[in-house]
Amino acid sequence: MHDLKTSIPKAEDWVSSLDGRMGETAFHRYQDILFPSLPSESIISLQEGDTPLYDVSPSFPNFGSLKLKHEGMNPTLSFKDRGMVTGVSWANNLGCTHVICASTGDTSAAMAAYAGASPNMKGIVLLPKGKISPEQLAQAITCGAITIGIETDFDGCMKLVQELTNKHSIYLLNSMNSVRIEGQKAIGIETLHQLSWKVPDWFVIPVGNAGNISALGKGLRELYKLGVIDKLPRLAGIQTEGASPMHESYKHGFADLIPQKAKPTKASAIQIGAPVSFKKAVRELKHFDGVVETVSETELMDWKAQIDSQGISICPNSAVAVSGAINLRNNDVIKAHEDVVVILTAHGSKFSNTAVKYHSNNTNQFANQMLIIKPTIDKLEMALNL
Ligand code: F0G
Repeated sequence: MHDLKTSIPKAEDWVSSLDGRMGETAFHRYQDILFPSLPSESIISLQEGDTPLYDVSPSFPNFGSLKLKHEGMNPTLSFKDRGMVTGVSWANNLGCTHVICASTGDTSAAMAAYAGASPNMKGIVLLPKGKISPEQLAQAITCGAITIGIETDFDGCMKLVQELTNKHSIYLLNSMNSVRIEGQKAIGIETLHQLSWKVPDWFVIPVGNAGNISALGKGLRELYKLGVIDKLPRLAGIQTEGASPMHESYKHGFADLIPQKAKPTKASAIQIGAPVSFKKAVRELKHFDGVVETVSETELMDWKAQIDSQGISICPNSAVAVSGAINLRNNDVIKAHEDVVVILTAHGSKFSNTAVKYHSNNTNQFANQMLIIKPTIDKLEMALNL
């Protein structure tokens, strides 16, 4: 897409210039590696990026170190904002008046917001009816996108959006659009900058449509090629047991994709049976000596509760990655001395129904059930064991 040797002729100069640019938004700071040819007057930004990298190692002494990169702390509460800066800005640069995506709820929220922030752009979102959270739905509607619920799953929406954009000139902003991938490279690059370019042994990331793992790999490869980093981490992609086409392929030596009918999961954003970026993702996984793991519904919800309880509010999809990292450590795929970064992809507040339901059920291991009482001091004291 671009010649990085022209935009970044000397890695050391680029790296040292970044320190003086911390006041800029992340996209501007890293633009020379993300998307150098995007004209600055076309950029639509909601000040995404600069998300926290939490060090939770003290709670996980069986890891060398464990850090959580919280992409849910972006303007629309998911990592999708990273790719929408580039996606919507490029559409703006091309003069597109309509942009479209199929979505499990986060791409649609981000696209709707960035289209809303553009001077002259309408978002159109195709959603699997009844399969996204109310908060995600509200994001698309309130940002003014034309919002269409379709009686199918994500894969069905994806097929329709491809058919439509083949027939009509509406700009497609799913992650199969490589412009989005360029923006999403920022997640890995920013993480490494936060780590002073000390490369961890592993990046662990949830996989749905497989765009994000492709972006992570591409960004890291480019950093390596430029000489900014001198080592490659390994990648681990994590899926749920019921929606695991990438895992099936991995088990068979990265065999060709066999599309699945993805089963419902609490991690609804990754209920995807035919990942559009499958081939790109496999290429990156092979390059980074990658592995693919699955987790159960109980595992992911229990880990969500445990991370949430530390004040780090995560979505069930992010919990898939946390839970996967734990399983890989327990199986000794991740070794005891290794440094691990888990990418959290969205904020817990986007999935409050799922959380409240978990905590309302006392049979769940980490449930924190709400107590309901009559309005008397006696009852209150009794509830508090006073
Ligand atoms: N986590 C969250 C919160 C997501 O919304 C998604 C994908 C993923 C992980 C997986 O990323 O698809 O690049 O492998 N959400 C898309 C959407 C499909 O429409 O919002 P991926």
